[in-house]
Amino acid sequence: MYPRIRRLVLYTFSITLLAGLVYIQRDRKSAVSLAPRKMEIQNPKHTFWAPEQSEHSRCLPNLTIANSSLSLPELHRDFLMTKHCRNFSTLLKPVSCNEETFLLLAIKSPPINIDHRVAIRNTWGKEKTIGKKLVKLVFLLGRSENKVQVHSLHQLLVYESQEFDDIIQWNFTDNFFNLTLKELHFLRWFMADCPHARFILKGDDDVFVNTYNIIEFLRDLDPEQDLLVGDVISKARPIRKTNAKYFIPESMYRNPYYPLYAGGGGYVMSRTTVQRLQSTAESTDLFPIDDVFVGMCLAKMGVSPTKHAGFKTFGIQRPFNPFDPCLYKELMAVHKLNPTEMWVMWTLVKDDSIRCAVSVTHGGWAV
Ligand SMILES: *[C@@H]1O[C@H](CO)[C@@H](O)[C@H](O)[C@H]1NC(C)=O
Ligand SMILES: *[C@@H]1O[C@H](CO)[C@@H](O)[C@H](O)[C@H]1NC(C)=O
Ligand SMILES: *[C@@H]1O[C@H](CO)[C@@H](O)[C@H](O)[C@H]1NC(C)=O
Ligand SMILES: *[C@@H]1O[C@H](CO)[C@@H](O)[C@H](O)[C@H]1NC(C)=O
Ligand SMILES: *[C@@H]1O[C@H](CO)[C@@H](O)[C@H](O)[C@H]1NC(C)=O
Repeated sequence: MYPRIRRLVLYTFSITLLAGLVYIQRDRKSAVSLAPRKMEIQNPKHTFWAPEQSEHSRCLPNLTIANSSLSLPELHRDFLMTKHCRNFSTLLKPVSCNEETFLLLAIKSPPINIDHRVAIRNTWGKEKTIGKKLVKLVFLLGRSENKVQVHSLHQLLVYESQEFDDIIQWNFTDNFFNLTLKELHFLRWFMADCPHARFILKGDDDVFVNTYNIIEFLRDLDPEQDLLVGDVISKARPIRKTNAKYFIPESMYRNPYYPLYAGGGGYVMSRTTVQRLQSTAESTDLFPIDDVFVGMCLAKMGVSPTKHAGFKTFGIQRPFNPFDPCLYKELMAVHKLNPTEMWVMWTLVKDDSIRCAVSVTHGGWAV
C-alpha cells in the first residue's frame, strides 16, 4: 500500500499547489485588467445575463406571512416570505451541451467549494467519454451568502468558468433552503441548453460517483422511458424538532410521511423524467428540502423512484474503508466524502491490479 499512499500524497500536494497558482494568476490578472468586466466580454459565451424584466421588478417578501409565522425559525420565515420568488437571472453558464451527450453530471456546489470542484474535475468527473459515450459535467451554483468575500469569489468564479466551461450560476443566495430554487433553475437550464442528454446524474459535490458502473447500468436503458434510480427512502417522517436542520412544522407539511424520494446526494434520471419534472415543478409550490420536493413532483407525475443498493446517500458506515476493493463492485454513488477520500477511491477504481475476491469493478470493457 505504501507506494500508493505516497502517490496520493503527491497528488494532493500538487493539487494544492495548482490551486495556489490559480489564485496568484487570478490576482495578477485582475490587477492588470482594472476593468474585470472586460474579461467577460472577450469571451462571448460567458456573458453576464441582464435580467429580462429587471429581475421581474424585484420580487418582494410577503409581509403578511412575516406576521403569521413569527413562531418559526428565521430561515423558515425567510423561506415562506420569499417562496413566491421563482425567477432569478443566470450569471454564468457554459456553452450548450453536445447533442450526443449520453450522461450529464449535474453537481450542486456552493461557490466557496472550489476544492470539491477541483477534486471532481480531476477524479470521477474527468472522463469526457466512457466506452464511446459522451459525458458532460456541470456545477450548479447560487450566489455566495458571505457578503464580505462575494466580490473576490465572483472574480474567481468568472475565471473558473472561462477555464473549465462547467459553471452554471444563478442570482439567488446559495443556502440550504434555496436548493429547491436550484433544482427548478437547473430543470429550466436543461430544457433550454441540454435537452438531448440521454441520462442525468444529479448529486452533491461531496459524492463519489463510479461513472463506469453508472454507464454500464444505463447502457441498455431507454431514455424515453421514465426512470429515477437512487437511494430511495419510503415512509420518511418530517422532523418536528424545532432545532433540527431538517425541521418542518406542520404548517408547512401536514402529512405524517413524505412521499417516496431518492436521497439528493446522488441519483440518476432519464431525459423524459427530467422533462416531465420541469413542467410539474413549474406548477408545484416550493418546498425547502429539494429531494423531497422532487419526490412530491414524482408523486404528481405517477412515477415511482427505484431503489438501487449501489447508491449510498443516507450516511455511510464509519469507519469507512475506501481501500476495500469489494466496495467498488456494485457501487454507483457514495455520499459525504472529502476530496482526499475521493482521490483515494478514484485511484483504486482506476487501478486494474486491484481485484475484489468476488468480482471485478469494471472489467470486461476497455475505456
Ligand atoms: C401574501 O401571503 C398571503 C397569505 O398566504 C396571501 O393571501 C397574499 O395574497 C400574499 N400577498 C402577496 C402580495 O403575494
Ligand atoms: C404586522 O404586525 C404589526 C404589529 O402587530 C402590524 O403593525 C403590521 O401592520 C402587520 N403587517 C402586516 C402586513 O400584516
Ligand atoms: C416567472 O416567470 C414566468 C414566465 O417567465 C411568469 O409566468 C411568472 O409570473 C414569473 N413569476 C414571478 C413571481 O415573477
Ligand atoms: C442580482 O440580484 C441582486 C438583488 O438580489 C441585484 O441587485 C443584482 O443587480 C442582480 N444581478 C444581476 C446581474 O442580475
Ligand atoms: C433565497 O434566495 C433569495 C434571493 O437571494 C433570498 O431573498 C432568500 O432569502 C433566500 N431564501 C432563504 C430561505 O434563505
